[in-house]
Amino acid sequence: MSKKNMDKLLKNKKYQAAADQLVAAVQMRIEKIKRRRSKVEAANDLKQIVKEKYGEIAKASKSSGCCGPTCCGGEESKIVGYTVMQDEYNNLDGYVADADLGLGCGLPTEFAGIKKGDTVVDLGSGAGNDVFVARSIVGDEGKVIGLDMTEEMIEKANANKIKAGFKNVEFRLGEIESMPLENDIADVVISNCVLNLVPDKRKAFEEIYRILKPGAHFCVSDIVIKGELPEGLQKSAEMYAGCVAGALQQDDYLSIIKETGFENVEIKKIKVIELPDNVLKEYLNELEIKLLKNNNVGIFSITVVGYKP
Ligand SMILES: C[S@@+](CC[C@H](N)C(=O)[O-])C[C@H]1O[C@@H](n2cnc3c(N)ncnc32)[C@H](O)[C@@H]1O
Repeated sequence: MSKKNMDKLLKNKKYQAAADQLVAAVQMRIEKIKRRRSKVEAANDLKQIVKEKYGEIAKASKSSGCCGPTCCGGEESKIVGYTVMQDEYNNLDGYVADADLGLGCGLPTEFAGIKKGDTVVDLGSGAGNDVFVARSIVGDEGKVIGLDMTEEMIEKANANKIKAGFKNVEFRLGEIESMPLENDIADVVISNCVLNLVPDKRKAFEEIYRILKPGAHFCVSDIVIKGELPEGLQKSAEMYAGCVAGALQQDDYLSIIKETGFENVEIKKIKVIELPDNVLKEYLNELEIKLLKNNNVGIFSITVVGYKP
């Protein structure tokens, strides 16, 4: 082979190697994008399920005109059977019966340290149950904003607000992961049994951090897991909408909060959630139910606070 041809061959080989490297890099990138997209798609699917379920719940409570889906039976009662989680509300100042759909798993206002004149934001406000309790504490000088991504819930909450005649209560349609709220506006952020439903919990806490004023705090009641939950429970989208399958391990939950930058993070209350046997039997076999009832593995409601420095 002549030197000229040899040079040409070597040059081609060099190009070939560079081209191979480029193709491999592009393929890796495509795989990464595909993985990221399937994660995003899964998150969007779950959010859609959550929206539909809570839309149904809001509509069921409206059409039946009863005190909430707990007394409505049918499909909804399957989900709202989890009212086993909710604390007593009806003796609280500001309680509005039509706003109580039995969907909470704690009482965030109990430990939120809300004061007269505060601006409070309630995330996943539903029909406004905690918003109206917070409103009675902040008084006429303060303001309470409820945020929810389900249109039917916002409609129901607004109907309750109009009935009560409050001027300083506002309900906004939007997602917790990208709140339609400005930076540094809240004295207190509360939330009741919602963040477990948000696929990207890190983003949720970053957003809470963003809207809190410096030195302000959040108080949220939420569902967490301790130990390995049986697969049947984890996978069920129905249970997801019922606050269980989307819950994190307690330690991971607290780590996310601290990594977001919150200080003085403290669990104020912890409750074991005992789901009724008829609900468990839909998802688990006898042995799995036994294991779940052993306290090493379980579902808990925690009410946790954290401060923005
Ligand atoms: C279990 S319910 C709790 C409602 C209310 N906090 C209560 O205690 O009555 C969950 C609520 O959070 C809302 N939600 C769930 N994920 C959300 C998200 N990513 N952004 C905004 N709202 C969300 C649902 O639409 C639903 O109204």
